[in-house]
Amino acid sequence: MEKQIIINSTHNKDGKTSKLIEKLYPNSKSIKLIDYKMELYNYDEIYSEDDEFLEIIHEVLKYDKIIFATPVYWYSMSSLMKIFFDRLTDLIGSEEKIGRQLMGKKVEVITSSNGNHLGENFFLPFMETVNYLHLEYEGGKHY
Ligand SMILES: Cc1cc2nc3c(=O)[nH]c(=O)nc-3n(C[C@H](O)[C@H](O)[C@H](O)COP(=O)(O)O)c2cc1C
Repeated sequence: MEKQIIINSTHNKDGKTSKLIEKLYPNSKSIKLIDYKMELYNYDEIYSEDDEFLEIIHEVLKYDKIIFATPVYWYSMSSLMKIFFDRLTDLIGSEEKIGRQLMGKKVEVITSSNGNHLGENFFLPFMETVNYLHLEYEGGKHY
């Protein structure tokens, strides 16, 4: 099992979040959500053949630890990250078998913002989601 994978949710491929990741984790695998086709969550949990959410999850399963990297857009995680988090719902429903394989993985969160004006509350959705899915939250850090 490889060590860690960074999930970058920037909307700006060569922007500040990507540069931060290159600086902090020069030798780690990182993926950009913007490079994948990810449909919005729907209650039937049926998606088109083009949808690549599970492709991301299969990649993530190769690693012990997930580092979520999000720019701060309006005091929150980016909307791409939120779409990804909504899609995690599939992993406790129609794709539960795959979801179980995520259990126990370690999770960290980093942000990239202009103001660095946000406190610990920012990380609440990450912490609660991670705990709910039985992953292991190891903390968040603002940059
Ligand atoms: C739509 C939008 C909303 C933003 N909202 C905030 C904000 O609430 N607080 C903040 O400090 N910076 C905010 N910023 C600035 C970005 O967080 C900052 O420039 C970040 O480093 C951008 O990373 P990126 O180049 O990967 O998109 C915002 C930028 C955008 C484009």
